[in-house]
This record gives sequence, structure tokens and C-alpha cells, in this order.
Amino acid sequence: MTNTTTSYMGLKLKNPIIVSSSGLTDTLGNIIDLEANGAGAVVVKSLFEEEILMDAEDNMNKMQATGFIYPETFEYFDYDEISDPVGDYLKLIADAKAKVKIPVIASINCVTANKWPDFAKRIQDAGADGIELNIFPLSSDPDRTAEENDQLYFDIINSVTSLVTIPVSVKISSYHAALSNFIKRLSQTPIKGIVLFNRYYRPDIDINTFEYTTTNVLSTPAEMALPLRWISIMSGRVSNDLCASTGVHNSEGLVKQLLAGAKAVQVCSAIYRNGPSHIREMLDGLQRWMKEHGFDNIDAFRGKMSQVHSHNPTAMERVQFMQIFNKRGKGSKG
Ligand SMILES: Cc1cc2nc3c(=O)[nH]c(=O)nc-3n(C[C@H](O)[C@H](O)[C@H](O)COP(=O)(O)O)c2cc1C
Repeated sequence: MTNTTTSYMGLKLKNPIIVSSSGLTDTLGNIIDLEANGAGAVVVKSLFEEEILMDAEDNMNKMQATGFIYPETFEYFDYDEISDPVGDYLKLIADAKAKVKIPVIASINCVTANKWPDFAKRIQDAGADGIELNIFPLSSDPDRTAEENDQLYFDIINSVTSLVTIPVSVKISSYHAALSNFIKRLSQTPIKGIVLFNRYYRPDIDINTFEYTTTNVLSTPAEMALPLRWISIMSGRVSNDLCASTGVHNSEGLVKQLLAGAKAVQVCSAIYRNGPSHIREMLDGLQRWMKEHGFDNIDAFRGKMSQVHSHNPTAMERVQFMQIFNKRGKGSKG
């Protein structure tokens, strides 16, 4: 029997397939179903910073309007005792923890380090095994520098990790100047995991209605090349656990990310397309491949194809690119 257990951000997973934060993980029924189909862990659908702040503001307004509380006493007030829309999220986490054995990781989508980080403590109190921060800087703002955008990550990470003891990970986009240096600096913070990469919605234009639309909401397997490259470059260079996300659609993709050095993978589009039973198929494929190649546990091959032994991976990639380019050139002449 092959052993597919792995550890990710200090959590023990029965296998490396984590269902990504999405509509797939936003109800208790779905989470139970995902566990029954073999998921190693789930990341619950993100709660947005704006929702947390609106909720807090709403509660304060209600309390002030009724003369129920003086502003100075806010910090002593037990927010749980009044109506709390965000409570649905906390309840989902608490209910999921009561019903499933796999790790349940909460997710917060945030754009600032202001006011909301205290909420992370409530997530911990609800029983979450970890928190994934989906930090969404406004890199489209031409007045913000790369340093300012990067600093946002460090401010949020420092705030949240100073408040909770459960492991915290960060899900990043690939849109960063000096990406490997950024990942290295992230690895020097108290975060335990880095998810490479988030995938933003792709915009499109309807040329008849002159409207912006959303296209390709789900990824394709070809998109896996981007996290594969960066997991391969960074694993072995950072001490945090790396988790591959975007384009992992089948057992082959899973094996490739593990070979590159991922501790786990996150899967979303493939489950939207094929249903939760796809998790079992991916696991069967992983076990078949491990048997064929004589690996009885994941650590026996994890990171085997990482670029850690290459002194300068970018230069190595350039050499590969030159080789392909030269072959094409010869082919077209002949
Ligand atoms: C319908 C849908 C909803 C999503 N919601 C969230 C979310 O709430 N939080 C988040 O961090 N990512 C969210 N994502 C992104 C996924 O977690 C994942 O990063 C992305 O789809 C890439 O993985 P994939 O190629 O396996 O789909 C969502 C994706 C989809 C398709």
C-alpha cells in the first residue's frame, strides 16, 4: 500500500489534494461531500475584508443608535452577543470542524492591514486549522510602486500572525517584480505556507454590447506550467511549504507539482468540471504512478525535479529556450 500522507503548514494531510477556496467549499454539505470523495483538506470560500468591516460598522451603528454602548467600551464588548452576518462564516467553520476530520482552512481576501485583522482571532476561536490570506493588492494603480504593493503583504502578515497561533499561509499572484526575491522575503516571515498562484478572472469585451464580460472562469491544464516553474525554482530555497494552485486538473499534474517540490496542490476548476469524484480519480492515478515507479511514500520523490541544484535557474531556463529556438530555426530551413 502506498502512503500518500503529507504535511502542509504543519498540518497532517492524508493526501496532498486540497480543495481550493471557492463555491465548492462554501457549505457544510459540500465540505462533507469533498471529504467523502477523498479530499486531503479544504480551504473554505473567502470572506472579504469589506464584509468584515461592514459587519463591524453595522454592529457599532446599531449599538450607538440604541444608546446601548459608549464608544469607549467597544473594546470590552462581546460582539458574539448581537446579530452578526459574519457569524455565518464562523458557524460554517465550527460546523465543518464538528463534522469532518480533514483540516479546514479559512480564507480571507484582503487589500489592507487596517482594522479587520482582529477577526483572524475569531476564526481561530471558531476552530479553523489554519488561515489562508488571499491578498489582493491594487497593482493596476500606476501611482503605487512595487515596493508599496509588496509591503502590503508584510503588513497584513505581521498583523495576522501576531494575533493567532494557528498556521497562516498566503496565496499570492504571479504579478510581482522580482518574484523569487519576494517569495524569499515572504519565507522570512512567520507564515507557514505559500500558495502559488492565485488566478484572477480574465476580462473580455463583448464587441456588440460594448460591455466588459468575464471569460474562462475555469482554468485549463496548460496553465499549470506557471506554478510548476515557480515551485520548481523556489522549493528547496525557502523553508515554508509551497502549495501549487492553478491548472492542476489530473493525477499527472499532481505528480508533476510534487516532483517540482510542492507539499500539496489545490484543485478547483477540475472539480467544478468533473464533480467531487474527480478527487478519487486523481488519487488513484497518484497511487498507480507511485507503484509503477517504486515510491512507497511522497517524500521519496517530492522535489526530485526541483531546480535547487542549479546555481542559476533563470540562466538554465534561458539555455533551454535557446536550444528550442535553435531547433526550430534549423527545422524551418530544412
Ligand atoms: C467560481 C470560483 C470561485 C472562487 N472563489 C475564490 C475565493 O473565494 N477565494 C479564493 O482565494 N479563490 C477563489 N477562487 C480561485 C480558486 O481558489 C483557484 O485559485 C483558481 O480557480 C485556480 O485554481 P484552478 O486552476 O484549480 O481552478 C475561485 C475560483 C472560482 C472558479
